[in-house]
Amino acid sequence: MKKIVIEGDRLLTGEVTISGAKNSAVALIPAAILADSPVILEGVPDIQDVHSLIEILKIMGAKVHFSQNILEIDPRGIVSVPMPSGKINSLRASYYFMGTLLGKFGEAVVGLPGGCYLGPRPIDLHVKGFEALGASVTNEHGAMYLRTKAQKLQGTRIFMDVVSVGATINIMLAAVKAKGQTVIENAAREPEIIDVATLLNNMGAKVRGAGTDIIRIEGVEKLHGCRHFIIPDRIEAGTYLALAAAIGKGIKIKNVIYEHLESFIAKLQEMGVNMTIREDEIEVFPSTNLKAVNVMTYPYPGFATDLQQPLTPLLLMTQGTVELIDTIYAKRIKHVPELVRMGADISVEGNLIIMNGPNELHGTEVVASDLRAGACLVIAGLLARGTTTIYNVEYILRGYDHIVEKLSALGAEIKIVEESE
Ligand code: UD1
Repeated sequence: MKKIVIEGDRLLTGEVTISGAKNSAVALIPAAILADSPVILEGVPDIQDVHSLIEILKIMGAKVHFSQNILEIDPRGIVSVPMPSGKINSLRASYYFMGTLLGKFGEAVVGLPGGCYLGPRPIDLHVKGFEALGASVTNEHGAMYLRTKAQKLQGTRIFMDVVSVGATINIMLAAVKAKGQTVIENAAREPEIIDVATLLNNMGAKVRGAGTDIIRIEGVEKLHGCRHFIIPDRIEAGTYLALAAAIGKGIKIKNVIYEHLESFIAKLQEMGVNMTIREDEIEVFPSTNLKAVNVMTYPYPGFATDLQQPLTPLLLMTQGTVELIDTIYAKRIKHVPELVRMGADISVEGNLIIMNGPNELHGTEVVASDLRAGACLVIAGLLARGTTTIYNVEYILRGYDHIVEKLSALGAEIKIVEESE
């Protein structure tokens, strides 16, 4: 067990480079096993979720080498191993193996996904998609795993009742080797979906329309290896933008695709955050008298639910009342009581998170309940007077590449301590 200890109230400055996108990487790695020859992924973030997926690949019989953010996956030795439990349950994105194993072997036994608890996170749309493609999906004796099986997957038309990133990608993964055409309607449009489609097409798949709400997939017999460079992590970039606006005295954030962050940057500009946007970097300057703004999360290109918590410390600094509604995960509120213990005027009323500011935070002991709540508490700790100790930091390390090193380079007083110390 590890904890993060922060001495807050120090202005930060310098440059930070954004890593490859976690939510792309966790889909691209399972996607790679569909190929019949090696796939090389570049710009892979060095995070716990990636290490967990590498372990799963090795259990399946793949040869894997990961160094300097380059991940080489040789899938030739892969066999369909039942994975009802273990590592597979530890991360949400393990559900992508349902799609790829079904597409590759016509059968998969995969444990139900874990990951951050953000309220109920059903996978009914994934199941509905696999069934529409002709697979049977069973949850034997209510066990914590699903068995998906099909003689041959058959392309079809699938309408997604809810816009879902995971289900869109999973159905794409299963459909690339199906017979005939699959059309996904009301598909999610996140940049990570385009990234997965780009990899699949480089492997020889025929995926059209990724990034729009209709994706058409023409099934192919075989897929081959290729080299692919992962897009930058827009959620990590948004986290550092929020942090720079809150406690920076000039921070340059490099390796950013501005177009992936338009709704978030528009919100910062509405608050009065001073910044310069260049080709692939954003420089944030100190800003004063920040304006209170309301926030509502939506599927892409709307304001990302994953950036709701990291933005909260900055919202707490603004003058006036802020109302925030997370329409994707209404129960994504576990950071709220922790911020209250740091002195924030923040509360939950129905589906609203309400803040009154400006607030002055003080350091104390807090617990990270999930990945993005953890990022929120790190920023709050950097802002707060005194010492903040964050427990359960394993959540943060699941998704933020070298966060302590990156923040230290900006001048933060932050360290990871083993709990037994
Ligand atoms: C992905 C992201 C996560 C992000 C979320 C929403 C990954 C690995 N994770 O999660 O960081 O917070 O998108 O942008 O990419 N839903 C159903 N039935 C389903 C699937 C989803 O009702 O079968 C609902 C969910 O409860 C939620 C909404 O659809 O309210 C969106 O969820 P979804 O886009 O699927 O989230 P994930 O793919 O799990």
